[in-house]
Amino acid sequence: MTEAAFTPRVFSGIKPSGGLTLGNYLGAIKRWVGMQGPEFETIYCVVDLHAITVWQDPATLADATREVAAGLLASGIDPDDSILFNQSQVPAHVELAWIFNCVARVGWMNRMTQFKDKAGKNTEKVSLGLYAYPALMAADILAYHGTHVPVGEDQKQHVELTRDIAAKFNHDYKVDFFPLTNPVIEGPATRVMNLRDGTKKMSKSGESDMERINMTDDADTISKKLKKARTDPEPLPDTLKGLKDRPEARNLVDIYAGLADMTSEAVIAEYAGAGWGRFKPALADLAVAKLSPISDEMSRLMADPAEIDRLLAKGAERAEAVAGPILQKTYDIVGLVRSR
Ligand code: TYM
Repeated sequence: MTEAAFTPRVFSGIKPSGGLTLGNYLGAIKRWVGMQGPEFETIYCVVDLHAITVWQDPATLADATREVAAGLLASGIDPDDSILFNQSQVPAHVELAWIFNCVARVGWMNRMTQFKDKAGKNTEKVSLGLYAYPALMAADILAYHGTHVPVGEDQKQHVELTRDIAAKFNHDYKVDFFPLTNPVIEGPATRVMNLRDGTKKMSKSGESDMERINMTDDADTISKKLKKARTDPEPLPDTLKGLKDRPEARNLVDIYAGLADMTSEAVIAEYAGAGWGRFKPALADLAVAKLSPISDEMSRLMADPAEIDRLLAKGAERAEAVAGPILQKTYDIVGLVRSR
């Protein structure tokens, strides 16, 4: 079997650890929406089992799972077109993850930069789950024979590890069973940076709320955060090269491009020579126009959690129908007796 023999199938996931940010939206969600359609089967997952690799308050986790699902729906994920569900409702992820724990090598895990960043000096005290996390992520993708994985830049290494796990499994068992997945890291905003420090990634957890735009922020808050975003005193240059060594300026240009569906080059061409007094209000207006309808729709959806649960259950059933036979075949390949 060659790569081309696999059905083109998109899989991607997002953790419900805290709320969604503009980084999640531009780096992942907006692009997930764009991949829906005839070219791919699309499967999107709220990865609650990944979230608990660090402590989550149970009630907050349940709320966050529904809120992330609401954010995906409000952004344009169509639950009839895509399969949308939360990970813990489909046990195949965990079952395949165990098999991959036995395929992946400790040395590979030791090279994962995100683990090193998250664990810091504390490697002895973090959960075993945090260390094994990339094998679960590989299982998420490969339980569906996912061929394309749209993610932000920070997930590249994990998707590459997924390829390594698939290749080693295929090699060890002399099969061509798992596809070699492609990361899809495209567009102007694959790494949205912190609004207060352009050298750090925008993330859900961070000291100050002013560092990030949350998908639940109202129009005034979005506008205020962008107008107060850190910049330098220089006006915008006329080429992207001129933004080298100006990380905060570059970030705002990339955010504009991501929101406006433009390239960063086109944004620079339009705003060459503009000062921040012109660019920031234009960016704030654009962000409010694009994000406010999503946050309004999220609040509407969140008012009916039972409906979200119903949609997730339906998605989980559809997911199970794809993953079940792949898991079954994996067990057969490995030689695990399933006699009932
Ligand atoms: P997570 O939940 O941290 O982030 C979800 C998605 O958002 C992207 N992202 C960003 N993109 C650009 N700029 C940013 N500042 C930014 N912050 C987050 C991430 O790259 C990601 O695409 N391990 C994954 C979840 C996962 C997964 C999977 C993804 C679990 N299983 C299988 C793909 C396939 C994670 O923690 O993403």
